[in-house]
Amino acid sequence: MALRNIVTLPNPVLKRKAHAVTQFDKALRTLINDMVETMREAPGVGLAAPQIGLLERIAVIEYFEKPEDEENEDAPKKVWAVINPEIVKVSEETLMGVEGCLSIPGLLGEVERHAEVHIKALNRHGQPMKIRAKGWLARIFQHEIDHLNGIMFTERATRVWQPTQEVDAEQEV
Ligand code: NI
Repeated sequence: MALRNIVTLPNPVLKRKAHAVTQFDKALRTLINDMVETMREAPGVGLAAPQIGLLERIAVIEYFEKPEDEENEDAPKKVWAVINPEIVKVSEETLMGVEGCLSIPGLLGEVERHAEVHIKALNRHGQPMKIRAKGWLARIFQHEIDHLNGIMFTERATRVWQPTQEVDAEQEV
């Protein structure tokens, strides 16, 4: 496995729409492993392929599967690798939350997201998978899928600011 470089704004690759993945081969699985390693190293809870300069519809996420686990320090986190993900259903309910992004260091923003999303995607072997995500996990999926469409959280934020202290920093995606 190898770490990949995370690209930041104003790199134009971040503003472009990524292409669907059609080849499910060893190179794809190596790329996914590299993305997971790069996300952990950053550290972050999500990473989309455009953030390492690749216009491919791939994202990795590592987070608690259930919202109630966020309160439990010992709860295990789960890793998702989603290929060609699509949001197929969203809740009417939305939540405000503070987001950061590994590709926009030093900036936070308040973003309204759907409280729950249903996602259809392919796994690393090209097999279909369905995911129901709530709360912060739903937020991460929406943030990462935005990356695949060239949308940065700052475009959706109702306000953005530069945190004055490290202590302000939220989980980066
Ligand atoms: Ni991001």
